[in-house]
Amino acid sequence: MTDPLLPDFDADRLECLLATAAREAAALWLARRRPGLTKPDARPTLPDLRDLPLPIEALPAELAAMLASAAPYGADPLNLAHIPSIGNAAALIADWFAAAANLHTASALLSPQGVALERDVIATLADFLGYGRPCGGLLTSGSSLANLTALTAARDAALPGAGKEGLTGLPPGRLYASTAVHACIPRAARVLGLGQNALVTASSVDPERIDPELLRKHLRADRAAGLRPVAVIATIGTAATGAIDPLAELADVSRAEEVWLHVDAAYGAPAAAIEPELARAMAAADSVALDLHKWLFLPYETGCLLVRDARALAASFSFRADYLDLPHDELDPMQLGPELSRGLRALRIWASFRCIGTERLREALRHCLGLARSLCESLGKAGPLEVCAPVELSVVCLRLRGSERLDGALADCMHRELLGCLASTSPPIQVSTLRRGGRLVLRICFVNPATRADQVTYLVERLEACARDVNSVTGD
Ligand SMILES: Cc1ncc(COP(=O)(O)O)c(C=O)c1O
Repeated sequence: MTDPLLPDFDADRLECLLATAAREAAALWLARRRPGLTKPDARPTLPDLRDLPLPIEALPAELAAMLASAAPYGADPLNLAHIPSIGNAAALIADWFAAAANLHTASALLSPQGVALERDVIATLADFLGYGRPCGGLLTSGSSLANLTALTAARDAALPGAGKEGLTGLPPGRLYASTAVHACIPRAARVLGLGQNALVTASSVDPERIDPELLRKHLRADRAAGLRPVAVIATIGTAATGAIDPLAELADVSRAEEVWLHVDAAYGAPAAAIEPELARAMAAADSVALDLHKWLFLPYETGCLLVRDARALAASFSFRADYLDLPHDELDPMQLGPELSRGLRALRIWASFRCIGTERLREALRHCLGLARSLCESLGKAGPLEVCAPVELSVVCLRLRGSERLDGALADCMHRELLGCLASTSPPIQVSTLRRGGRLVLRICFVNPATRADQVTYLVERLEACARDVNSVTGD
């Protein structure tokens, strides 16, 4: 059998070619975990697509060569910068099968297996995170889309008619969050036609958290002024420091003031699997967005929206079209969000839970939290570095002790030096910086269960040595 688009390709040789591809892909996968990978090439040289088509037999080697220098250092246990996706082997294998099956997971009629799998995975996630039942939801590319989807439903619940007639003539809608809310939320406000200025920051002394009393005041004052509260957006694990909003209090205020409570738990949701109190508080939310490609070890483009009542999503997104004249289930995935064509994202999640199991996932999460704690404890009270933000999850922010009293530009420069010094040790350590209170600090993220305790000892040793070097150069 031949492939109509690849006439020279003998499909009987597919198995053999896939075996070659598997070897190349496995090598690439293992290379991502090797310590000391450098940053990706800024400008990789790509084969010219205008050249004659390549024989498919040569494809695995060409793809491997292209990606070898592009492969980011994401899975190196000493890559502690940002919150990268580590991925896992079960998901890798599942993705091959998902590509082979190429299911269209829009509706139960088109893909009963795909939709059943997605529902099963959503229920499993809800149980794992203590969100419980009833629960519905949707797999998405990530939390930006999950947040946007939830806020669409919240907008339509608060402003009936907005979906059909638009916002003209309706009271201006308002969203409420802390100053540290992720940038995808103001972006969602723009897309929803509420406008970015609809986002009210309800933080007081602590900019990283919503102040529940201030929130209550805002909600009441806004209603009195003829504005319409649409949603309170709490965060579990801010992108900057991993801060957690006071969820239980926010749930009380939201319930009393009858406003939708959405939780952006893109990074922090997995903590609910090991902290029952957090799970109980999160369970009070109307909706929760999370990224499995962050701290649940799945590959990129694995986001999820959990909602208490999936009918609220259907109220915003359901549609009928003559060209899709099929018997629909009102809760088919294509009726719950903005995407119609969708692949089988659920398979990689299913395979990960199946092979890793919930207990090992919990252990991996506890391990990451333990690494963050041990870094803080090892730094000591008199060393050259100090923890400069509360450590609630697995992100630790550090600054040079005393640097807050230095000139801002000098202090920034010293922290950049520190970053460079860590990156040039052997093996190198990658950490990121964060601007906090106008000043650069180091941000160290533990989301890789492959990072070992002795590597934290090495990190502390290198951090202190680099800090002493930087201090001595600047004469501090
Ligand atoms: C708190 C938070 N919300 C939302 C997002 C956006 O998620 P995504 O990149 O998956 O769209 C991120 C990070 O990327 C995040 O840290």
